[in-house]
Amino acid sequence: MAQDDKSVLDNAQLHDEIENTPSNNSGNRPFSSVLEANMTRRKVMAGSLTVAATAFLAPTANAGWGWRHKRPNEELVGFKPVAIADVIDTTMPTISDDYEYQVLAPWGTPIEPGATEEYKGDPSMRPTSAQAALQTGLGHDGMWFFPMDQRHSQEYGHGYRMRNDMGMLCVNHEFGTNGHALGKSSPESLEDVRLSQNVHGVSVLKVKKTHRKGWEVVKSKHTRRITANTPVTFSGPAANSELLQNLNGNIALGTINNCGSGATPWGTFLTCEENFNGYFGATGIFNPTEEQQRYGFSENGFGYGWHNFDKRFDLTDEDYENEQNRFGWIVEIDPFDGTQKPVKRTGLGRVKHEAIAIAESGNGRIAAYMGDDQRFDYCYKYVSDKSWKNAIADGESPLDNGSLYVAKFNEDGTGEWMELTINNPVLSARFDSQADVLIYTRVAADLLGATPMDRPEWTTIGTSGEVFWTCTNNSQRTETNAANSEAPNSDGHIIRTKDADDHMGTTFTWDTYIIASTTRGTEGVFTDPDAAWADPYGRLFIGTDGGQPDGLQDQLVVFDTTKETPEPKRLLVGVSSDEITGFTVTPDQRTAFINIQHPGNGDPSATNFPASYDGTTIPRDCTLVITRKDGGIIGS
Ligand code: FEO
Ligand code: CA
Ligand code: CA
Ligand code: CA
Repeated sequence: MAQDDKSVLDNAQLHDEIENTPSNNSGNRPFSSVLEANMTRRKVMAGSLTVAATAFLAPTANAGWGWRHKRPNEELVGFKPVAIADVIDTTMPTISDDYEYQVLAPWGTPIEPGATEEYKGDPSMRPTSAQAALQTGLGHDGMWFFPMDQRHSQEYGHGYRMRNDMGMLCVNHEFGTNGHALGKSSPESLEDVRLSQNVHGVSVLKVKKTHRKGWEVVKSKHTRRITANTPVTFSGPAANSELLQNLNGNIALGTINNCGSGATPWGTFLTCEENFNGYFGATGIFNPTEEQQRYGFSENGFGYGWHNFDKRFDLTDEDYENEQNRFGWIVEIDPFDGTQKPVKRTGLGRVKHEAIAIAESGNGRIAAYMGDDQRFDYCYKYVSDKSWKNAIADGESPLDNGSLYVAKFNEDGTGEWMELTINNPVLSARFDSQADVLIYTRVAADLLGATPMDRPEWTTIGTSGEVFWTCTNNSQRTETNAANSEAPNSDGHIIRTKDADDHMGTTFTWDTYIIASTTRGTEGVFTDPDAAWADPYGRLFIGTDGGQPDGLQDQLVVFDTTKETPEPKRLLVGVSSDEITGFTVTPDQRTAFINIQHPGNGDPSATNFPASYDGTTIPRDCTLVITRKDGGIIGS
């Protein structure tokens, strides 16, 4: 495996480096830092936080039936944290003494009819592309648990109780490097490309807990694999644009680089296409347009080499000229209908979508908060025209008819949501239609003077409607501004915004919740915040992605946001070179699912997780099911 090990590492490092190279040359570089003003604002916002039930998602709206979320006098985040000194074996995860974990659905778990055995990481025998299409993929990232019987409960009310021991689990498969998936740095055939494509996409799993076996993946008619080659449809304002059609006339296929996620109040999964540009390349001479440059297309992409065997991904094949525009969207998947075609929602814009968090306003309309993860890229918000219930009653998707905004952060703790509309003369001077504005969202946002951020990753909505935005890091920042106050920002930070007018406004206030570098030298040190989920009681769960200090690996930390001073508590530490991502819970919040992504970067000499250490078994991305040993609420 020596040669393969080298290619695994090189490919992974290449992936990380290229995916974060900025492509924003718009010159939007506002101001210098006024951190002090922010610190004052933090106090104002913290004082207004209250512990209120949120109606933002059906599962959490019902959380805590018949249970207290904490015992009297107990800390909201009261578990015994993992100490730095506790992390001694980086081939296996380390979890708080108050908790335990179980592995679920690692790469290669058979889920479709016809799938045979699980692929267990034998380096001498990998799945064929046909087998991979019937199994879970690589790169477990964003995910969401949809309990049985959520759909009946929403449609018929109280008679149907949502289950805490059974549901649909949608899991993103963001990426698997060629080294990890194929055992070689480049594909040598179309079969190799198909194997790579089939470890990407989404798995829709049915999961169930029994006393005898714990949690396991079980059969269901809803279960399915969605890959880079699954038929999909487009909807919303850009759906019929010529920019989404090819001369070849090929139908729309597939979803790739499915990073973070979200869920709708009507019970569907939203998967976010992030670094889609990296799968395209050129077999001929490639002279990128302004738009292609802005989205980071290049001759060799991230080295996946798909374009050498699959013309769809060849930027210089005229027959597939617009294939590239079919990616970079948020895709809606029905977890309870295995026959539904995934729908790309063009109203939400085309960027390197990280994740999405939806808030329901008092008037029933929804606001969706979304980050575009690249150095110096932007924060976005979408607002539906109608209440989501009325839209659905009228046969429309609440995600198709609405307005898209991009954020400008002012130095004084205020901000503006600037609408990306063709009615703005600045945009109509550059674009012909709203469809063009949405297909080239980044270019439109540049023209409005949005604030370049330090890689906005996940969003999540707190107890009083505040939105947390993880800004993971930005090693290339040289000039600070109030919202990005470190230069370079090697450890990242978390921004908190609060919209005017119950999520419907075009202004907001904001503050910096925490600057990760301030935790250096403390027992609670963490850096590179990425995945985020806020519970209805004030706990904020953060998964990290980036080498952690003090010998730690990537970790899951929990904050009590009802406290004025943020204090991270370490619930779990992963394995060598992994990433902790994709947090979701059962309705009673007594079971959490998180993902261990790219353990060891695929290098078996670093870890063989979920297998115990043997130095040869290929490590496999997987989900961990986390529970408190005393059956309590996760995070308590
Ligand atoms: Fe796929 Fe920005 O993380
Ligand atoms: Ca990742
Ligand atoms: Ca991420
Ligand atoms: Ca990241």
